[in-house]
Amino acid sequence: MVKLLATHILLALAACAYSAPAGTSTSSAVQESPTVPYASDDANYQLYNDTAASTPEPIRGKLGANVLGPHNVPVAQENPDLLAPPTTDQGNVPNAKWPFALSHNRLQTGGWARQQNVDVLPIAKEVAGVNMRLEAGAIRELHWHTSAEWSYVIKGSMQVSAINPDGQNYLATINAGDLWYFPPGIPHSLQATADDPEGAEFLLVFDNGTFNEGSTFLLTDWLAHVPKEVIAKNFQMPMSAFDHIPEHELYIFPSDPPPDTRQPVEDPQGQVPEPFTYELSKVAPTQLEGGTVKIVDSTAFKVAKTIAVAEVTVEPGAMRELHWHPTEPEWDYFLEGTARITLFAAQGNARTFDYQAGDVAYIPPSYGHYIENTGNTTLKLLEILKTDRYQDISLNQWLALTPPELVKAHLGVSDETIAGLKKVKPVIVGH
Ligand SMILES: *[C@@H]1O[C@H](CO)[C@@H](O)[C@H](O)[C@H]1NC(C)=O
Ligand SMILES: *[C@@H]1O[C@H](CO)[C@@H](O)[C@H](O)[C@H]1NC(C)=O
Ligand SMILES: *[C@@H]1O[C@H](CO)[C@@H](O)[C@H](O)[C@H]1NC(C)=O
Repeated sequence: MVKLLATHILLALAACAYSAPAGTSTSSAVQESPTVPYASDDANYQLYNDTAASTPEPIRGKLGANVLGPHNVPVAQENPDLLAPPTTDQGNVPNAKWPFALSHNRLQTGGWARQQNVDVLPIAKEVAGVNMRLEAGAIRELHWHTSAEWSYVIKGSMQVSAINPDGQNYLATINAGDLWYFPPGIPHSLQATADDPEGAEFLLVFDNGTFNEGSTFLLTDWLAHVPKEVIAKNFQMPMSAFDHIPEHELYIFPSDPPPDTRQPVEDPQGQVPEPFTYELSKVAPTQLEGGTVKIVDSTAFKVAKTIAVAEVTVEPGAMRELHWHPTEPEWDYFLEGTARITLFAAQGNARTFDYQAGDVAYIPPSYGHYIENTGNTTLKLLEILKTDRYQDISLNQWLALTPPELVKAHLGVSDETIAGLKKVKPVIVGH
């Protein structure tokens, strides 16, 4: 007991000695002897950001040493914050980056598809993604699945069709920057038009991290696995009517592009009450200090009950501010430029990842983060949340709307700093 007490006193003395080093200057806003030492002044820039000019080495200040063995320089150049992490990184945060370039690709006549799900990115429990390409006229065959499907057209133009459980149908053609959404189990088709002679490419997002593009319910796969006698009985037609159904699934296959004049089949039940597509490309972006943002969730796109999106641009040197989403998992897709994100996972755990166009990022609910443009071109990304309503908490706004004495007691900041906080969310800050 006495020994324990002595240890405590020694520890307390040591703490005092450490927290008030000689020569530390203090301002009026700062406590004379801080409870814990001040954080390092190290700016922790992304090192080796001018990738063309340098071979990155695992060196940050006095830490680290150069690579002597094999050095995969192109991979290191794309991940400088893993090679030479900011000194603020700590502990274990699981990998939160997946480049579609590392996905196994499924090549078909007429296109291809590659996916990211929990198998390759285990942290992404709630959302999965597929990057798909269809040549002009090519069809992703009639199918359905247990997850909802949200999509963003990256290039070209797509015609989609569907029906709902009330037998109401839907047919629409949408363009680059537009969206579609099919609720779970709703059967649909996807076909590239010839508006772009090369066809189309798009991003598919599913509201379940275990989604597998290879295990959707396909029309041809089903009929290839039903006795012909049953098929004939079902449609009340002779078996010979089905002499030419495929013996196995088509999945992606070539076809003639849809005519511009194609109309939905006349439907005695009428059309679906809410459209399955949304023309995001026609929405004007909100201009902010360091970029732009367009947000669409189920308030405007009524059927999209589980996926919301912010289409964000961030100018060179600017940043999507420090924030978090209270309960919503975030899945990001990078369309243009380069970025870095630090995931703050509580308990001192933080890790920084770098992203290029074509990569996926995943941020679990409530993890604090920022998205910094680390390049010299505009960064464009889709910030996709699994939710019916887009929402976030801005660190800046939170501190601005908290009693200043509380903020000063935590951060030791001055009155000028308090006065500079923003009561309206900046969202994207300039440089
Ligand atoms: C932009 O960055 C790239 C890659 O780091 C570099 O090669 C290029 O010179 C930069 N361009 C300008 C205008 O700074
Ligand atoms: C995701 O899919 C898996 C397998 O299909 C299922 O077991 C699980 O319940 C689904 N999760 C959610 C949140 O729907
Ligand atoms: C690149 O890193 C340097 C420091 O190493 C920093 O001064 C500069 O702002 C960074 N540039 C960008 C575009 O992030």
